[in-house]
Amino acid sequence: MTNTSHTSRNRSIATAAIHAGQEPDPTTGAVVVPLYQTSTFKQDGVGGRRNGYEYSRSGNPTRNAFDAQLAAVEGAKYAASLSSGLAAIDVLLRSTLTPGSSVLLGNDVYGGTYRLMHQVFALWGVTVDVIDITDQAAVSEALAGKAYDYIWVETPSNPLLRVTDIAFTAAAAHAHGTKVVVDNTFASPALQHPLDDGADVVVYSTTKYIGGHSDLVGGAIVTNDADIYEKVTFLQNAAGAVPGPFDSWLAIRGLKTLDVRVQRHSANALAIAQYLEANPAIDRVYYPGLESDEGHEIAARQMHGGFGGVVSATLKTGEQSAKDFVGATKIFALAESLGGVESLIEHPAAMTHSSVAGTALAVPSNLVRLSVGIENVEDLIADLDQAFAAVAK
Ligand SMILES: Cc1ncc(COP(=O)(O)O)c(C=O)c1O
Repeated sequence: MTNTSHTSRNRSIATAAIHAGQEPDPTTGAVVVPLYQTSTFKQDGVGGRRNGYEYSRSGNPTRNAFDAQLAAVEGAKYAASLSSGLAAIDVLLRSTLTPGSSVLLGNDVYGGTYRLMHQVFALWGVTVDVIDITDQAAVSEALAGKAYDYIWVETPSNPLLRVTDIAFTAAAAHAHGTKVVVDNTFASPALQHPLDDGADVVVYSTTKYIGGHSDLVGGAIVTNDADIYEKVTFLQNAAGAVPGPFDSWLAIRGLKTLDVRVQRHSANALAIAQYLEANPAIDRVYYPGLESDEGHEIAARQMHGGFGGVVSATLKTGEQSAKDFVGATKIFALAESLGGVESLIEHPAAMTHSSVAGTALAVPSNLVRLSVGIENVEDLIADLDQAFAAVAK
C-alpha cells in the first residue's frame, strides 16, 4: 500500500516553508532573513522598544522568523523554539504540569525522553506510566483507570518505528480530559500533521529533519492552544533555554528544503528497507513503509507522501555482529542522531538508548538503526553489502 503522494496540503507546506515569516528585510530588501546576532536592542528612550525587541532571551527577530515559518508549515497558531528537543519537552512539561500530575508514555520512545520524565520529573512528583501505546485496548484501559494530564505519543517511534494511530488516541484521550502530545520528530511536518488528527501539542527535535544538515541542536513546541503557548513562552523566557540566533538561522534554511529532502529520504529508506528484508543475515526489519510492517496500514493513512528516513533491523547473528556491522560501513557514518542529509548508522542499545537499559524501554541488543540520507541509493546499498561481507568474514 502506498500513502497519498503529494496532497495539496503537502504543496502548501512547501510554499509556507519558503515564504512564511520570511518577508524581505525592510531596511535593505535582503530576501533572506538576516542573522540578528545580538543579545540586546537599543531602545528609543526608556521603554521605547523597536518592534517590541529588548533582549534576545525574550525575543530575537531571527528566532521569531523561524517560529512563524514552523507554525505556518504545521498549519498551527503558535510555535516556540527551544535550545534542543529535550529542552522543548522539558519546558512543555515544566510549564504545564505540577506535582501530582501524570503522564502516560509509550514504551518505545527516545531514551532521553524517558530519562527526563523518569529520572527528573519523577523527583518533582510527576508520575510516568509506561504502556504499549500502539495497543488501543491497553490505552483505553489505562485512560479509564487513572486521570492523566498527557498521553505522550512518538510515531513513528525511536528506534523501533512503531506506529500509533493519532486520531484514535486523541479521541480516546479527550473523552477522559487528557491532552495528547505527539513527538513528530521522525515524520517531520512534511509527512504527518498531528494537530489535524486531533493532537493538542506537537514537539520536535529540530536537530533532525527540520535542521536537516547535522549542524544544529534545537527543539520546538507547536500548538493551537493559547493557554499552553502562553505558559510555554513564559517559561521559555523565565528559564531561558532559547536557541541562539545562528542556530535559528540554520533552522530557517533547513526548513525551507524539508519537503524535497524528506521525499528523497523516504524513497531511499524504502529501497534500503526492501534490500534489508531480502537479506539472509537480517532477522527483522522495522520500517512502516514495508507492507509487512505491523504499523503499515495506519502509517499509510496517517503519513502523507512517504514513511520517513529511519530504518531499523535486527541481525540474526546477534549483538557483537550488530556492533561490528555498524563499524564496518564506509558511507554510513557511525554516529548518533538522524535526519541529516548524510547517512548515519548506530547501535541503539549501546548508544542512543543506553540510558534505558534494564527498563521497560530497553531495545534489542542485536538492533541497528540507520538514518538513511539523500545520497545515491545504489551507493548506500553497495556500502551495506560490503559491510555485511566484512562482518561475515
Ligand atoms: C524522537 C526524538 N525526540 C526528541 C529527541 C531529543 O532531541 P535533542 O537531541 O534535540 O534534544 C530526540 C533525539 O534523538 C529524538 O529522536
